[in-house]
Amino acid sequence: MADITNILQISPVIPVVTIDDPQHAVSIARALADGGVRIIELTLRTGSALTSLELIAREVPDILIGAGTILTPAQADAALAAGAQFLVSPGTTPALLNHMLTLDVPILPGVATVGEAMAVMDQGLETMKFFPAGPAGGPDYLAAIAAPMLHVQFCPTGGISLRTAPDYLKLPNVSCVGGSWLTPRDAIDSQDWPRLTELAKQAATLRG
Ligand code: 3PG
Repeated sequence: MADITNILQISPVIPVVTIDDPQHAVSIARALADGGVRIIELTLRTGSALTSLELIAREVPDILIGAGTILTPAQADAALAAGAQFLVSPGTTPALLNHMLTLDVPILPGVATVGEAMAVMDQGLETMKFFPAGPAGGPDYLAAIAAPMLHVQFCPTGGISLRTAPDYLKLPNVSCVGGSWLTPRDAIDSQDWPRLTELAKQAATLRG
């Protein structure tokens, strides 16, 4: 099992993907992999998200599939049972973090402030999602906390685009960014898989 530090090196951008129709799941994952992006954070924001997760985990082995939008311990368990290879939460509560730490899976807990990051560090973790990155202070905020939080690495997500991603990726405390721009809803609705591959290709080359 890869650890979270290695997972964040897979791609400069982790696509944050929401899938309404599980019939699209495998095509979406293959399109991203074809573009060189071999990791997905699949959000648990649709009723069928776990079905999509299960399909990708089974049918697209060259993609590392994680579950995002984990809000409760029960969701963490369900995502793991469906085949999630890592778990991402938008924020962190003691109950959720304590539970995720009992599971045998890499986790990326979400934080938006220094105090929240310190609470996660108290539990021995130094790798976190910074969410919602844009509204929470953007690259300036992350740059300002790099020195005091010397060993912490972030995956900022929320409000990031192909244009703004480099502002984050150049920071010493940013391993990769997350974003939904690689899987636009209209492209999924029209099953325009080549467009997803093209967006993935652009994202894959962002880190020099
Ligand atoms: C997330 O859950 O990380 C965000 O919804 C992704 O944010 P974005 O849609 O602004 O990229």
